[in-house]
Amino acid sequence: LPTGTDLRAEIDRLRKDRNAVILAHYYQRPEIQDIADFVGDSLQLSQLAAETDADVIAFCGVKFMADTAKILSPDKIVVLPDMDAGCSLEDSCPPEKFKAFREAHPDHIALTYINCSTEVKALSDVIVTSSSAETILQQIPESQKIIFGPDRHLGGYLNRKFNREMLLWPGVCIVHEAFSESELLKLMQKHPDAPVAAHPECPAHIVEHADYVGSTSGILQFAKNFPGDTLIVATEPHIIHQMEKALPEKNFIGAPGADGNCNCNICPYMALNTMEKLYTALRDLEPRIEIEENLRLAAKKSLDRMLEMAS
Ligand code: 13P
Ligand code: SF4
Repeated sequence: LPTGTDLRAEIDRLRKDRNAVILAHYYQRPEIQDIADFVGDSLQLSQLAAETDADVIAFCGVKFMADTAKILSPDKIVVLPDMDAGCSLEDSCPPEKFKAFREAHPDHIALTYINCSTEVKALSDVIVTSSSAETILQQIPESQKIIFGPDRHLGGYLNRKFNREMLLWPGVCIVHEAFSESELLKLMQKHPDAPVAAHPECPAHIVEHADYVGSTSGILQFAKNFPGDTLIVATEPHIIHQMEKALPEKNFIGAPGADGNCNCNICPYMALNTMEKLYTALRDLEPRIEIEENLRLAAKKSLDRMLEMAS
């Protein structure tokens, strides 16, 4: 890029020229959140991608989210600023192994977290996000046997909360797995009046200390309404940007990892997207998401069920 390029202005110009919409997840860098047309959780971003009349979707998130946008809006150009922005949950669940897991349990339906590949979505019955999982699970009869993947912590949380016995795929999110219980307890002692809000991708030993457990949008809602002046946030710390914008007088502290600070909990995949890469993605309309049509249609069924059941 020529030195002195005003990235914000250039991204703005290209967004208009391309009739593009910029969608960003709450775990994106603050400057990307600030330039996006919409910032949201996985469900909100899927809904927006399905409904937009833009010609181009610039998806500032990770690949499974951009894939979801393409599955739901196949006629749009969907660009992801960095194609290597993957997800440890997706990596933990190779489609052939998931297929064998399904085949080993023919009397179970597959309820699957959206953090997975398009192939795994195509092998699933219903997709959930962390903000829709509870509503959707409650619509499935208790007698129905279920396999749940790839996140064993979200699955375990749902099993405990709703007294279910879903069989769990053993995947984890490396980011939420990195919170330290002993460091969290120290922080709670230092701020005895501060509530803790946690994402259900956290292990049980973190979730059990939380006053609120929910998706990124749920945590943000909780942050806007909690009484008191300090909140401990056990999810990827970039979400704190939205909290500080909404409530600048309050104090938001990211839950710590084993080293006592929250920098180890930055999602390395989300962090691959930068303003420079967003600019070149809009300029070149690359890297672009492409999905083979039969695979797309197969994956769309389980996503459509989510959209129906979540509303
Ligand atoms: P939500 O924004 O749907 O809560 O998901 C969190 C997440 O880990 C996205 O990768
Ligand atoms: Fe995947 Fe975890 Fe990063 Fe979300 S925070 S994209 S679940 S690795």
